[in-house]
Amino acid sequence: MEIKVLKDYKELSYTVADIVEYQLQEQPLSRLILPTGSTPLGLYKELVNRELDWSAVMTYNLDVYIMNPDHPQSYQTFMKENLFNKINIYPSNCQFPDRNVQLYEERLKGIPVDLCILGIGTNGHIAFNEPGSSFDSRTRVVHLDEQTIQDNSRFFDSVDDIPTQAITMGLGTIMDSKKIVLMANGEHKLNILNVAMNGEVTEDIPASILQNHDNVKVFYCD
Ligand code: F6R
Repeated sequence: MEIKVLKDYKELSYTVADIVEYQLQEQPLSRLILPTGSTPLGLYKELVNRELDWSAVMTYNLDVYIMNPDHPQSYQTFMKENLFNKINIYPSNCQFPDRNVQLYEERLKGIPVDLCILGIGTNGHIAFNEPGSSFDSRTRVVHLDEQTIQDNSRFFDSVDDIPTQAITMGLGTIMDSKKIVLMANGEHKLNILNVAMNGEVTEDIPASILQNHDNVKVFYCD
């Protein structure tokens, strides 16, 4: 698969913002899947600057930690602070997985998602589908990998605060999207990105499932 290498983080953020802007202009009633984490921060900043019309858009987040949604490090708080509170989206159109995983799947199943934006973990996870996740997996409660807990420790003051469980969309759920964009930044992601996009398609490298999708764009900057 082609990995498009971009000049810097600004170009990565702008390139994906262009894709989202085009999607919203072509189809104001779009359904989007959105990630959290450090990678999409520039994208969200750019989308806020562009003052797009989000009034008919529905969003579905990839995953949430199992923790109080009002906690400063929850993914619900992250999305509000970085995007939702700064655009004209209806709060009721912003969906997050919760323990009623069946309901989340049903909401997603009705009409296919138009555009899914992903980051990638250093162990090859997408959303919180850790290595070994079934390619058929759907939304469910998962235990986070040691590597993921370590990678995410930078966001928490104390080790005891780092969540060990999450609710994530499954790999099957993600693959139902019409279009997928994967963003990666930092040299520490380059090796896993190459392995996932051009190596064996295996459940040991969850992101490798994207090789089986016919509309995926992969962007990287160091
Ligand atoms: C978060 C998510 C994760 C992150 C991945 C990379 O919603 O889906 O798969 O995309 O852990 O995180 P960052 O961007 O912080 O390197």
